[in-house]
Amino acid sequence: MNAATRPFGRGDAQRIADAFRPAMPLGNRFDYYYSLGKLRSDPLYPGVLAALRGCDAPLLDLGCGLGLLAHALRLDGQRVAYAGVDVDAGKIARAARAAARAGLDAVRFDVVDVEQGLPAHAGSVALLDVLQYLTREQRRQLLADAIDRLAPGARLVIRTGLDDDSGRGRATRLADRVAHWLGWMVSTPKSYPTRAGLEARFRLAGLTAHFTPLHGDTPFNNWLVVATR
Ligand SMILES: C[S@@+](CC[C@H](N)C(=O)[O-])C[C@H]1O[C@@H](n2cnc3c(N)ncnc32)[C@H](O)[C@@H]1O
Repeated sequence: MNAATRPFGRGDAQRIADAFRPAMPLGNRFDYYYSLGKLRSDPLYPGVLAALRGCDAPLLDLGCGLGLLAHALRLDGQRVAYAGVDVDAGKIARAARAAARAGLDAVRFDVVDVEQGLPAHAGSVALLDVLQYLTREQRRQLLADAIDRLAPGARLVIRTGLDDDSGRGRATRLADRVAHWLGWMVSTPKSYPTRAGLEARFRLAGLTAHFTPLHGDTPFNNWLVVATR
């Protein structure tokens, strides 16, 4: 595995997760342990950091959750302006609190339902583990909206499970359903894109796209897709 497909080491993961510790000693530690576990086990952010390195366009992170990508960017020395949006108002409030606590600059968070349209933006766009919460039609519209917001030289960075018949595909679908049943994900998983479908969409929009497996040691069918004009 190269560095971009390995999860964060203990020190870096701990540094980021510390911003999610509860303010009170007996406060809820769920976000802290979730962040630590995610950063230590999933190569998502190292893969995305490698995809964004060298690009100074502002970044719009759609379905940003707790905003871990903002922390990862700053840890990596990437200073691009960051805007994270998510439909889950609770997560956005906690993301904003943790970013303020870590002293991240040029970072903002807003509650936005991406099914209802995207905020104005010209730069790079990240869509990390979000596409499965949309129907095929909503995904088509969201990708079109995201592509419209790509500035010249900027990058569209997607991590997604792909729809195929593999054991990894089945594990991904099961884990997404469990996350919803447990209440961690307010949205229900609806459908998964196929590689051929995404490739056709990018071709039509005049984008060049690269697909790389990004599941590390997890059992999931996760891919990193980086598209540019
Ligand atoms: C699996 S989490 C990924 C979070 C983050 N992108 C990351 O990789 O750490 C999926 C996120 O998408 C958000 N989401 C789902 N449907 C959405 C919608 N219609 N509009 C905005 N966010 C949405 C969820 O609230 C959740 O935070």
